[in-house]
Amino acid sequence: MKVVTVIGARPQFIKAAVVGRELRKKHKEVLVHTGQHYDYNMSEQFFEELDIPRPDYNMGISGGSHAQMTGKMMMAVETILKKEMPDWLLVYGDTNSTLAAALAAAKLHMNICHVEAGARTNSFTNPEEINRICTDHISTLLLASTKSGMVSMAAEGLSDRGQLVGDPMYDAFLKYSQNQEMRNSIVSLSDGIVYKIPPEYYYLTCHREENTNEDNNLLEIFKAMEQLDAPTIYPVHPRNKERALRLQTDYHFKNILLTEPVGYLESLWLVNHAKKIVTDSGGLQREAFFACKKCVTILDFVCWPETMVDGRNELAKPDAEDILNKMEKKQWIDENYLPFGNGKSAVKIIAAMENTK
Ligand code: UD1
Ligand code: UDP
Repeated sequence: MKVVTVIGARPQFIKAAVVGRELRKKHKEVLVHTGQHYDYNMSEQFFEELDIPRPDYNMGISGGSHAQMTGKMMMAVETILKKEMPDWLLVYGDTNSTLAAALAAAKLHMNICHVEAGARTNSFTNPEEINRICTDHISTLLLASTKSGMVSMAAEGLSDRGQLVGDPMYDAFLKYSQNQEMRNSIVSLSDGIVYKIPPEYYYLTCHREENTNEDNNLLEIFKAMEQLDAPTIYPVHPRNKERALRLQTDYHFKNILLTEPVGYLESLWLVNHAKKIVTDSGGLQREAFFACKKCVTILDFVCWPETMVDGRNELAKPDAEDILNKMEKKQWIDENYLPFGNGKSAVKIIAAMENTK
């Protein structure tokens, strides 16, 4: 098979690392980077750390409105697809890069394999929901990470194209959590000073459009973290950098350490050693679950219902009191409950494409 893989954002590099490695054992992969994430620590660092081959194409498209970004990407992907004429287009998740590539391929009547199919928030205020639904409805093969994805597909009449394969983020978590190098220091975002990672800390990430469009949500999250019994480490997504620095200065938050975005291996280390995790990231919610860390998610919708059991992951409003209350609630771990597969989803993803004519 010849497979064109289109990726563009941080979480897609991680999934493509584990799936691409498996794919290249028997097949040809043409790797296309849309350019959606472009800073060294949002993109190239992942390629280096995870040994992802250099992209065959980098389209260099980022920023602008959703329509501008998606439209420009569609045009550029179409040219590449027409040249490469692959057996499959392979896309991951729910970003504008995912939707653009899928739309371009569908109009060329090409086979599309969508990994992380069926994930739903049932909220159209969440921009990624539109990308997920549209990509699923035009794809040939819908590969779900969890059973809830299969249920959503059934509700939308998509079951005949769906298969349950597990979550490649879990494959990556298992692989890269082994023999992790000890992390001691972290660089402050505000002054570049290198700090020692405290023996106990909370891990925060917050980057969703819903939480970063104005000050209030982040301010409430900071007010909550400031009151905790250990410092918080927060690697700040570039879209939020100016706001996070300004709020920290204006409100004199002393218990929150802002840093540049960290690489995947460092993020995984921070997950595995944190006291608890607060996030609005789809990936981090799952990693908290894999690492058995209590997680509080600052969103008003559930995307990974499998994590929301036994107090392990709870939604909180962007309100300091609600966040603190949810963080205090106890969790119970059932070690036999493994809803994200067995760490072999990459193999199943390749087999699904091989077995679909
Ligand atoms: C995107 C995805 C989101 C995913 C996230 C992963 C969409 C609609 N959203 O959100 O689903 O959770 O990636 O992190 O596709 N920027 C930089 N440097 C970079 C990347 C971004 O400065 O390397 C800035 C740009 O100003 C850009 C803004 O951040 O306009 C937002 O980036 P964008 O890719 O549009 O959305 P994300 O928030 O990253
Ligand atoms: N991550 C990272 N560096 C950071 C913050 C997060 O490597 O500074 C990792 C995190 O561990 C997870 C993935 O990025 O593996 C999640 O990506 P993100 O939160 O950007 O997107 P989402 O999963 O919400 O789409």
